[in-house]
Amino acid sequence: MIQKILVANWKMNPQTLAEAKALALEVKKLNKSLGETRVVIAPPALYIGEVSKVISKTKIELGAQNVSSEKEGAQTGENSAGMLKDAGVSVIIVGHSECRAKGESDDMINKKVLAVTGLSAVALLCVGESSRDEEGHYLEFLGAQLVSGLKGLQVKSLKNLMIAYEPIWAIGANAKRAMLPSELHEMSIFIRKTLINLYGKAVAYKVPVLYGGSVDEKNANLLLAGGAIDGFLVGRASLSADTFGQLLATTKATGVPKIVKL
Ligand code: PGA
Repeated sequence: MIQKILVANWKMNPQTLAEAKALALEVKKLNKSLGETRVVIAPPALYIGEVSKVISKTKIELGAQNVSSEKEGAQTGENSAGMLKDAGVSVIIVGHSECRAKGESDDMINKKVLAVTGLSAVALLCVGESSRDEEGHYLEFLGAQLVSGLKGLQVKSLKNLMIAYEPIWAIGANAKRAMLPSELHEMSIFIRKTLINLYGKAVAYKVPVLYGGSVDEKNANLLLAGGAIDGFLVGRASLSADTFGQLLATTKATGVPKIVKL
C-alpha cells in the first residue's frame, strides 16, 4: 500500500501570528485521524517556531516553503537548510512556481535540492509547465526541469526526495481549473519514466509524486484515484482547518490503484 501524503502550503498566510497559531491548533485536532496519511504543514518561515510548538507531540510534520541554496553567511533575508532543520522542519518545498517566477533559476533550485537532501531533510521539488501546446513540448519542458533539478543527486539521497507536479495554469487564485484525472495520469507516468531514466526502476518508484493546483475536498478523490499519484501539495484549501480536514478524510478514504510498473 502506498503512503498518501498531504502537504499544506500556507504561502504568505495568515496575516498575524495569533491567526497562524489558531489555524495550527485547529489542524492539530486532525492528528487523531491521520491514519497512515503523512501530513506536513508549511507555514511562513516567521511562524515556524510557534507552529512547531503547537504541533509538537503529534505526527503532523513541519515544512518550509523555501530555503537558501547556501549554507551560511551573507545571504540577507534567507534561511539555510540547517536552520530550518534545527527549527524542526522535515520537508522543504523547493522550486515552487511562485519562487521560479521571481527569478529562481534551475541551477539555483538544483543547489537547493542538494543542500536540503545533503542534510537528510526531504526536498519537495516542484515542477510544472506554464501552458500547454498541441505538439507536447510541455513534456520536454517538464523533463528538462526534472533533469536539471536533480543534477548530481545520488541514488542514496532519493529517500529524501518528493516531486510535486504543479502546472502553473492550475495553481492559485487565477487558475483556469484543476487538471483532469486523465491528464494527471499521463503526467505522473511521464514523471516516473523520467525518474526511471535517471535512476533505474528499482528506486524510481519509491519517490512520492504529489499533485498541486486547485486541489480541494471536492476533486481530491478523482485526482488521487485517477491520477496515480501519492498525494497533494495544497494551497488555498489548507487555510481552513475544516476544508483541510475534509481533504484529509477524502484522501484517506480514496483507494489508489496499484501503479502500473513501466
Ligand atoms: P492552490 O496552490 O492549491 O491554491 O492552487 C497550490 C500550490 O501552489 O502549492
